[in-house]
Amino acid sequence: MEASGHVAIPIPVDEFGLNPASLPAGEWAGTGTWDVAETPDAVVVTPGHQYPLGGTMPVSRRLELLRWARQHRAVVIEDDYDSELRYTGQPLPALAALDTDRDSVVTLGSFTKVLGNGVGVGHLVAPDDLLPRLHTLRTELGSPVSAVAQRAIARFMDSGHLQRHTARMRRAIADAARSSPTRWRTFPVWPWCPWPVVRTP
Ligand SMILES: Cc1ncc(COP(=O)(O)O)c(C=O)c1O
Repeated sequence: MEASGHVAIPIPVDEFGLNPASLPAGEWAGTGTWDVAETPDAVVVTPGHQYPLGGTMPVSRRLELLRWARQHRAVVIEDDYDSELRYTGQPLPALAALDTDRDSVVTLGSFTKVLGNGVGVGHLVAPDDLLPRLHTLRTELGSPVSAVAQRAIARFMDSGHLQRHTARMRRAIADAARSSPTRWRTFPVWPWCPWPVVRTP
């Protein structure tokens, strides 16, 4: 992002990921406070699984984030990382699914976790008015994914196999977590975080 000329501003997170209440309505002064002149153009979030602490953003915060984005005409870039492989409870709706006006969210994802990193296919869902610019950018960058792989994944999704496979994976991971309490729960931070997190002084 910085390489393309943007200024990245860190936002604090807690066990539920980004807290929309801490999003600014002004210009970053670089000192922990914001001036009121300018708001960010975009917010990047991993609501399914805040990386690296593992928190999941609840629906109330997702709705609050979307309200903030609409109010400030900002784009929410949703890195839909690990959202399907939650092993306690059901996956929560993606921000893109909650964005009923379909004008604030760009969702990015890949099949690395559910199918394997050898697949090398990602996806992006964006509001209609951003598509021409994204098409141009994609054309300029070239396609790293073969048409055969793209069609194979599309058929896998259309046939419902991906959904069934993901549900099976969730059950297998939940079983593994239950039967390996020492490996998975030595340092429980949040019950849904699949790896230990250690606080250092
Ligand atoms: C924050 C975040 N987003 C997305 C991904 C998934 O990236 P990829 O699908 O290229 O493995 C990862 C992988 O660990 C990640 O840490």
